[in-house]
Amino acid sequence: MRNKIIYFIGLGFVFSVLFYSCQSEDQITFARYYVNGKGLYEKNCQNCHGANGEGLKKLYPALTDTTYIRNNKARLSCIIKYGLNEKIIINGQGYEEKMPGNTSLTAIDVTQILVYTGNSFGNKLGAFQLENVSAGLKDCR
Ligand code: HEC
Repeated sequence: MRNKIIYFIGLGFVFSVLFYSCQSEDQITFARYYVNGKGLYEKNCQNCHGANGEGLKKLYPALTDTTYIRNNKARLSCIIKYGLNEKIIINGQGYEEKMPGNTSLTAIDVTQILVYTGNSFGNKLGAFQLENVSAGLKDCR
């Protein structure tokens, strides 16, 4: 009986160590993607969408419309890589200027940009996985 108790305590300990070490690895990946994503955003997106995702008047939409971003979560990777050319409503304002694609961005670049923009400017989309983004990018067109 006593051995069994010790066994279960030991087992619980091993599982909790595994659980927490995995979690912190995810958190480290998230933090790394976020920082890299910020750099990529400054280089590739900020000119139009602004340092705080505020956009530029009636020309470039803001990235602060959390409802649009959330509702289009599955499409965001395609928008980032291949651009967008349709009438959209952002924060109650219509936009129809064309966003150019940026096909030099790799799947990892896109994932990192998604982690940054999806968790900045009021957005709270959480983590994005490279495998999912890679797979999604194959179905864009
Ligand atoms: C040359 C200016 C320009 C650049 C650079 C640019 N965008 Fe855009 N973006 C636009 C325009 C214009 C639209 C609206 C397109 C439309 O109405 O079809 C848009 C739309 C969007 C949207 C959907 C609407 C919204 O506001 O949420 C997202 C998300 C987005 N861009 C993210 C990005 C990201 C991330 C980058 C960098 C990788 C980027 N854009 C680079 C001009 C730009």
